[in-house]
Amino acid sequence: CFSCLFSQLVQNLIPQKKPLFRSWFQFLLLVCLLTNMFNMPPYRIHPKHRAMLNNIHKTTEPLTGKPIQYHQAFPRNYQFIMDNTEICKNTIPFLVLMVPVAPDNMEARDAIRQTWAKESMVQGEVVVTLFLLGVSGGNDVEKLKQENLQHHDLIQSNFIDSYHNLTIKTMVIMDWLATHCPTAAYAMKIDSDMFLNIDNLVIMLKQPGIPKMNYLTGLLMWNRPVIRTNSSKWYVSEEMYPEPNYPTYTLGMGYVFSNDLPEKFVEISKSVKPFNIEDAYIGMCMKKLGLAPTSPPKPSQFMSYNTRYNRCEFSQVITYILDSSKHLVEYWTDLKKPEPPCP
Ligand SMILES: *[C@@H]1O[C@H](CO)[C@@H](O)[C@H](O)[C@H]1NC(C)=O
Ligand SMILES: *[C@@H]1O[C@H](CO)[C@@H](O)[C@H](O)[C@H]1NC(C)=O
Repeated sequence: CFSCLFSQLVQNLIPQKKPLFRSWFQFLLLVCLLTNMFNMPPYRIHPKHRAMLNNIHKTTEPLTGKPIQYHQAFPRNYQFIMDNTEICKNTIPFLVLMVPVAPDNMEARDAIRQTWAKESMVQGEVVVTLFLLGVSGGNDVEKLKQENLQHHDLIQSNFIDSYHNLTIKTMVIMDWLATHCPTAAYAMKIDSDMFLNIDNLVIMLKQPGIPKMNYLTGLLMWNRPVIRTNSSKWYVSEEMYPEPNYPTYTLGMGYVFSNDLPEKFVEISKSVKPFNIEDAYIGMCMKKLGLAPTSPPKPSQFMSYNTRYNRCEFSQVITYILDSSKHLVEYWTDLKKPEPPCP
């Protein structure tokens, strides 16, 4: 506190005169102390993370205190409407599952709540599932509030929810993890149309060789060319991303990471130009950080697409893309039957 030091200095220089002047500085000192106290984050942070968090919070202009506007995907340009602040204060999750989903897609959320998000203890570890929403033009504010009152699992930020804004959504996920849940050990970004064998995921993460820091894993994509066909859903212009290939990244359907990474992603993203392919964007952030994704212990556990349900196979994988939430409940119910899944 610069003014505190200054007041002490002045007090030492002129200790004998002007008692009024002096008590004025004592008052200032008190104000400084109180301000520092109230600036402390309300959550517990591991000391090694604190320095970095403090850096991240310096995103305001020194004179006006206004937020510095970074590029569009910088998550601190947006504000949380619902943030369920208390979630990681009461427990320290082993794993947080973050599911980006459209505000009106309650069907997908309900299917997930009935299936892989149903148990809060998995293999003896605390697992939390949260849904990340932007805002839609629709009149759903009250409905979402009610849904959150019932389930306490919605995180909403005030950016416009659209397919083209998925990179913003991912970065808001990272921001929430960094600021609201830094004590969790691992996190996963997982799409809402996924089958997730949550037991197998926790078993994988508890294996002795799994890194606790700088760890990102999933279905690895190597040397993927950037799509330049402007009618494609995945089109990215040369202006947004000039190189012909993406760096190695993990496919966006479901990637798992150690929870030290979110704050590093938010910080490095200030200098990584955004583009609309969220998973490749995380790949770029990893590259900028001097890191690379790691292959999972059993790569065949991260499957992208399935054409048919096979009970034995679903009991061994971690992820599968499904074509509808209806199938999720159906497959899950079948998988959880008491008979052994494999012959
Ligand atoms: C993405 O979100 C921003 C911030 O809310 C908004 O200005 C922009 O129009 C959105 N873009 C699309 C394509 O929805
Ligand atoms: C898409 O590309 C075609 C051919 O390269 C061009 O003629 C057209 O104007 C482009 N459309 C848009 C929306 O940029």
